[in-house]
Amino acid sequence: MGSLSKRKIITVADPAALAKSAADRLSARVSENNGRIAVCLTGGSSPRQLYALLATDAYRGKIPWDRVHWFIGDERFVPADDPRNNMSAARQIFLDECAPTENVHAIPTDADDPNASAEQYAEELKSFYGANNIESDRPLFDLVLMGVGPDGHTASLFPSYPALEETSHWVVGVPKANVEPFVPRVTLTLPALGSCREMLFEVAGTDKRAILTRVFGGENLPANRARSAGETVWLVDQAALPESFRGR
Ligand code: 6PG
Repeated sequence: MGSLSKRKIITVADPAALAKSAADRLSARVSENNGRIAVCLTGGSSPRQLYALLATDAYRGKIPWDRVHWFIGDERFVPADDPRNNMSAARQIFLDECAPTENVHAIPTDADDPNASAEQYAEELKSFYGANNIESDRPLFDLVLMGVGPDGHTASLFPSYPALEETSHWVVGVPKANVEPFVPRVTLTLPALGSCREMLFEVAGTDKRAILTRVFGGENLPANRARSAGETVWLVDQAALPESFRGR
């Protein structure tokens, strides 16, 4: 693992093809590791089709569920039974049915406040990793899933927010979100998210085309600064693809 990687863009036809391609990449990453595996999930609507696919017969048998641990890159600071809770959505779609409970590592939202929650989750990650500092040749995650928001945010790292510049903490509280839902957030930071073999963005739909044009144009946006120490891959469907990337 060397310096932060260049981005690889893979285009697919539509959201169904995107989910299949993401599921294939996830199962490939999982099969490369014979030991304990860590996958960092993401929130929002983009990964839902992938999550549903992982519970189907086609993929369920390909995942060694007892060896895979599921984390989440950011959380809305709302109770677990709130429909906006990211990990609860993942649980409902596939984890409750497929994964052992002890392998599901949710960000605790019953803590006193987002900072306390962030501290607890950082402790959980460090204990899983077995060290207090990230080692450049030993990634924390096998795979980190990501999405991009209309302002160029990823996880809950919003443009110009101090969380984006964080280099020592693995997880931080974010008092106010830049986009809906306007609830406080808890987010992993760029160094923690980047400590992975692969970072995989899923982007689909015409609504994403404007922000992708800005990201791929090299603007200084959180989604552009999020890079894996291994491979950084953007899976993009035709509807989201910027005009200048068509036909490439
Ligand atoms: C969240 C997410 C966030 C998301 C993007 C894209 O908690 O909202 O983790 O970073 O990935 O906002 O969201 P959509 O997939 O809903 O477009």
